[in-house]
Amino acid sequence: MTFAEKLIEWHKKHGRHDLPWQGTRDPYAIWVSEIMLQQTQVATVVPYYNRFMARFADIPSLASASEDEVLAHWAGLGYYARGRNLHRAARQIMELHAGIFPRDLDLVNALPGIGRSTAAAIAVFAYGTRAPILDGNVKRVLSRVFAVEGWPGIRDIESRLWKLAASLLPGENVEAYTQAQMDLGATVCMRTRPDCKRCPLAPDCIARRENRTGELPTARPRRMLPQRSTTLLLLRHGQNVLLEKRPSTGIWGGLWSLPETSADPESACLQLTGHSPESMQRLPALTHVFTHFKLDIKPVLIAVGGTDIVAREPVKVWMGIDEAARAAIPKPVRTILESLC
Ligand code: ADE
Repeated sequence: MTFAEKLIEWHKKHGRHDLPWQGTRDPYAIWVSEIMLQQTQVATVVPYYNRFMARFADIPSLASASEDEVLAHWAGLGYYARGRNLHRAARQIMELHAGIFPRDLDLVNALPGIGRSTAAAIAVFAYGTRAPILDGNVKRVLSRVFAVEGWPGIRDIESRLWKLAASLLPGENVEAYTQAQMDLGATVCMRTRPDCKRCPLAPDCIARRENRTGELPTARPRRMLPQRSTTLLLLRHGQNVLLEKRPSTGIWGGLWSLPETSADPESACLQLTGHSPESMQRLPALTHVFTHFKLDIKPVLIAVGGTDIVAREPVKVWMGIDEAARAAIPKPVRTILESLC
């Protein structure tokens, strides 16, 4: 049996068959699922996906929504650029393609937030296009089975893996083959502790034979993430908290967050609200890891006597705690707000 045949056989019995985005050929539904599934596990994605599709059923519905509302449906999934790009791409599809998801791989690839592998996955599942994918899971499987050395983030290595992926593509059954690769990577050929006993490719796998699954794929050259630190102010007046809309670029772009300060909390409070704190309490610090740095977050809970807003920029509003919990807020901010309840 070929590589592809083994995977397809394995998938019949051991693959995932009843996920909410399977059993459709709607490129929009498949696109949304593929974007959510980038860097996020199936179990986390499912409820977000269902809520998102219930609210934004098709491209026109997504394109006509506000960015704020789209991001509110993304809040908690992380990597918000994915949500912003999805929204932008829906608007582009309305303008450039009359609201119809394009079929041509190059046109799909040209949309914001869709790389070559995601474009191929959508085309495979929606149209049965014969195109290879190369996401993180597939890179890991191929690096191990064929002992491809070198970090897949390097252009040459990635290009070798693309050639390998193309050469293994079967002539038919591309949908099952593609899903099988994703499922094998997610459920058997895991990054740590792969379950080789259950792997249909184990007899062919060089990494397995040479006991090198721990060192393949080659890890990204280690670099320490720089550490930054910030103070977030949880300004509270009765049941309301002060939220501030982040600028659309930079971390948490377009999301609602707590005012951030590098000054001392008292003067920041006075500057923002015109009132001095009535009481102040430091809350437990949190660390949040972004792609390029680690952020140490020191929250301070401050009770404020009035609801004036002195500083006009960026936009701020007093919001009920419940309403704030439903808004598009980043995960660490949610954690901080939950400590109030
Ligand atoms: N990861 C990326 N796309 C996926 C899919 N369609 N099914 C399962 N995991 C995935």
